[in-house]
Amino acid sequence: MFKDHLKYLVCPKCRTKLFKSEFEIVRHIPRFVSSDNYAGGFGLEWNKHARTQYDSYSGSNVSEKRFFEETKWPKELPGEIILEVGSGSGRFTEHAASTRAMVISLDYSYAVDANFASNGAKSNVLIVQADIYNMPFQYGSFDKLFCFGVLQHTPLPGKSFMELPQYLKTGGSLVIDVYVKKHFSRQLLNSKYWIRPFTKRLNPEILYDITSKYVNFMWPLARLFNKLSYGRNLNWFLMIADYGGKFTLPDNILREWAILDTFDMLSPAYDYPQTLETVNQWFHDAHMTFVEVHYGYNGIEARGRK
Ligand SMILES: C[S@@+](CC[C@H](N)C(=O)[O-])C[C@H]1O[C@@H](n2cnc3c(N)ncnc32)[C@H](O)[C@@H]1O
Repeated sequence: MFKDHLKYLVCPKCRTKLFKSEFEIVRHIPRFVSSDNYAGGFGLEWNKHARTQYDSYSGSNVSEKRFFEETKWPKELPGEIILEVGSGSGRFTEHAASTRAMVISLDYSYAVDANFASNGAKSNVLIVQADIYNMPFQYGSFDKLFCFGVLQHTPLPGKSFMELPQYLKTGGSLVIDVYVKKHFSRQLLNSKYWIRPFTKRLNPEILYDITSKYVNFMWPLARLFNKLSYGRNLNWFLMIADYGGKFTLPDNILREWAILDTFDMLSPAYDYPQTLETVNQWFHDAHMTFVEVHYGYNGIEARGRK
């Protein structure tokens, strides 16, 4: 943590100025929660795959494209302050930081260590371990806030969403995405929901071991299936997160993504997909303006202004 980043932190309870002696800094990261929480599987996943989804690792522009197309923010934002909630390994932190805005990037799990390894040396990035329900920032202090792939993995997605707007300045931009809840008959075809009741209770290390062995074993067959029409759907049904044909990535990277995302389907403690109506209602209840809610990256994507 850079010394002058202390000014971005406040006491999460009383919102007054914080002194260095009032919170822990472990491995350069301010920590407001212990890592022993429901997001431990994410900590494991993002440290095992600290670089897998980084464009600077895969040689693609998958994360950059998603970040700018989903936020619709300009590529240059000097002087602005962005809050990222639920950063994982920090693959989007990299692109937020490229705008030259000050980026404050938070996660509940020890994924923050992976993010720090990639982005922590940048003077316009502050990485913090804290809980969406108790963030150590001043209300009304951010120009922009994004929260990708997180809300469905929190115990109360609607409550989590309602936490976010209060940190924005008036006129500030909020962008989220969340898994889509399909009709019951289609949800039944999503095999992860049959298996999760069992797998989410497994020790993450054991589950990761099983998942990587399974994906590695199935991979040659999955490549063959991928060539058939609907073969990619078949692979997903067989619990192999297959992005072949969707993203242009080398085979070894596709396999890494498959292990990462298969584990990501099976391990989270919470997985509560949402409908367009619910997300619209969230933005309405938060009195956001210029609201756009539609199907997009990762299910449903939504934008609004405070
Ligand atoms: C699926 S990952 C998404 C990571 C990243 N946004 C991405 O798309 O690559 C979900 C992240 O949300 C974080 N998360 C879950 N509950 C949280 C909470 N209560 N507060 C903050 N982050 C949370 C997890 O630790 C995890 O890193």
